[in-house]
Amino acid sequence: MSSTSDYDEQIAATRAYWDSFSRFFQERMEVTTLQLARTLASMLRLPEATAVLEVGAGAGGGAQQVLPALSEGARFVVSDLSPEMVALARAVLPERVEVQQADACQLPFADQSFDRLMANLNLMLVPAPEAALAEAARVLRPGGRAGWSVWGRREQSPMFTLAPRVAQEVGIELPEAPRSNFDLGERESLREQVRASGFREVLAWYQPMVRDVGSGSAYVETLAQTPRWAGILAGVSAEQDQAFRETLAARVDERLAAGKPIQLDALIAVADR
Ligand SMILES: C[S@@+](CC[C@H](N)C(=O)[O-])C[C@H]1O[C@@H](n2cnc3c(N)ncnc32)[C@H](O)[C@@H]1O
Repeated sequence: MSSTSDYDEQIAATRAYWDSFSRFFQERMEVTTLQLARTLASMLRLPEATAVLEVGAGAGGGAQQVLPALSEGARFVVSDLSPEMVALARAVLPERVEVQQADACQLPFADQSFDRLMANLNLMLVPAPEAALAEAARVLRPGGRAGWSVWGRREQSPMFTLAPRVAQEVGIELPEAPRSNFDLGERESLREQVRASGFREVLAWYQPMVRDVGSGSAYVETLAQTPRWAGILAGVSAEQDQAFRETLAARVDERLAAGKPIQLDALIAVADR
C-alpha cells in the first residue's frame, strides 16, 4: 500500500467523488452495471451460501440481484465506501440485509466470517487492489467463493475511450491520472493476482457491458453531468465545449448507425478460497 497519508487522501477523494455521484449513478448508470452483477450472482452458488458480503455495492442494485437466490437464514452484508451510496442501498434493501460503510482494502469483519464475496466494478477503483484481494481472502472461509468484475480491454471499451479521444482532438487537456481503471484488465495477470492472494480455480473471462444510450446527444448529455466531465468541461472555452459535444455525439451516432453498441469490456473473475 502507498504511505498512510497518500492512502487516506485517495480514500477521501474517492469517497467524495462517489458521494457526489451517488444519486445520478443510481438513476442513470446502475441499470447498466447490473448486467455484470447478474453474471456474478449467477456464478456464486448462492442457494448454498450461509454468509454473503458485497463490497463496493453502490446503491444496492447488485444486492437486489443476489437476494432472491439466498436461503432464508443466510446472512447478507452489503458495504460501500461512500456514505451516500450506503444510504441509497439502505433505502432499497429489506431489513434482513445489513448495510454498512466499509473500505474494501480494510474490511471491518473478522477472519473467515463469510462464505461468499462479490465486488462488481469496484476492484479497479480502490487505492490498493492487492490489499482488497487479501482482505477478500481473509474474510472468506476455506471453500468459500468470490467474484469480481473490473474494466477489461481498453480497445473494446468505447464507453470510456471515445470521450477522452474526442477531447484530445478538440484540444481539451485532460487531468493526468496516476493510474488507469484499465490497469487490471489483462486476463492472465488478474488470474495470477487472484491466485497469489490465496484463491484457487480462478476462472476469468471478458464480457461486454452495453449501455442503452439512445442517441449521441443523449449520451453526451449524461456524460457531461458526471462529476469528472462536468469538472473538465467547466474549465474549457465555449467553442471547445461545443466542438467536444458535437463531435462526440456524431461519433456515438456513427457507431449506433453501424449497429455497434456503446460498451465497456469487463473482465470477470470467479474463484474459490
Ligand atoms: C462503479 S460503482 C459500482 C457499484 C455497484 N457495485 C454496481 O455495480 O452498481 C463503484 C462503487 O465502488 C465504491 N468504492 C470505491 N472505492 C471503494 C473502496 N475503497 N471500498 C469500498 N467501496 C469503494 C464506490 O463508492 C461505488 O459505489
